[in-house]
Amino acid sequence: MNILIMGAPGSGKGTFSSRLKDEYDLKHISTGDIFREHMSNNTDLGKKAKSYIEAGHLVPDELVNDMVLHTLQELPEDAGYLLDGFPRTLAQAKAFDQATKGTDHEVDRIIYMDTPSDVLTKRITGRRTCPKCGEIYNIYYKPTKVEGVCDKCNTELTSRADDNEESLATRLEEYEAMTRPVIDYYTDQDKVSLINANQDFESIWNEIRNALEA
Ligand code: AP5
Ligand code: MG
Repeated sequence: MNILIMGAPGSGKGTFSSRLKDEYDLKHISTGDIFREHMSNNTDLGKKAKSYIEAGHLVPDELVNDMVLHTLQELPEDAGYLLDGFPRTLAQAKAFDQATKGTDHEVDRIIYMDTPSDVLTKRITGRRTCPKCGEIYNIYYKPTKVEGVCDKCNTELTSRADDNEESLATRLEEYEAMTRPVIDYYTDQDKVSLINANQDFESIWNEIRNALEA
């Protein structure tokens, strides 16, 4: 099964990807995580992406498309993927569909995490992430047992450089202008499952599982 998980910043893409990849044995490909890794390793791609990401702008399509297609090429043919944060523009979606149509990597289903924008600021500013194992927490909604320390691996948690109100405002504007049309594009292909992502974690998880098993 090949899945895209889409939704606004803070809608829960990363949180539910971590459960989906285990439950359905999928390769999780998060474009945001790949860029952050390049930035922390100071690679050429990381240097090019950094100013866009920290200001909350989308990285130019050509940098993203090459990176995703390259990652997919390395997947074994029979492996399913879970793409988190891609495609985010119509140009990305069309390039992706053209490259995968008729192959084992053609997308089967889009999980769309529908969330009202007024809950996103508190989710984003309250987010803390483990830099070692990637576990995602929230000081308001999913606190750790010991403040500031990962429950799973005891590493000190960090905040993302783009998780401030100013960058978030730009991310939300870009989401509405550039990414919402991608959801409409896949809705026209009858591939979108709309999930109410403004509920407790378990209710959301049940909706996602029902959508995939229907
Ligand atoms: P990316 O890393 O993908 O960021 P994003 O889309 O802004 O999404 P987030 O990771 O912030 O949110 P999420 O939906 O994963 O939420 P999470 O599960 O963590 O991209 C970063 C940047 O990279 C982009 O801005 C862009 O610059 C660049 N980029 C990446 N892909 C690109 C592309 N294709 N094209 C161009 N540029 C690209 O949850 C958030 C918080 O809420 C957590 O603390 C969590 O615990 C909490 N939470 C989640 N669900 C609930 C709930 N139901 N109730 C209460 N709290 C909840
Ligand atoms: Mg994420």
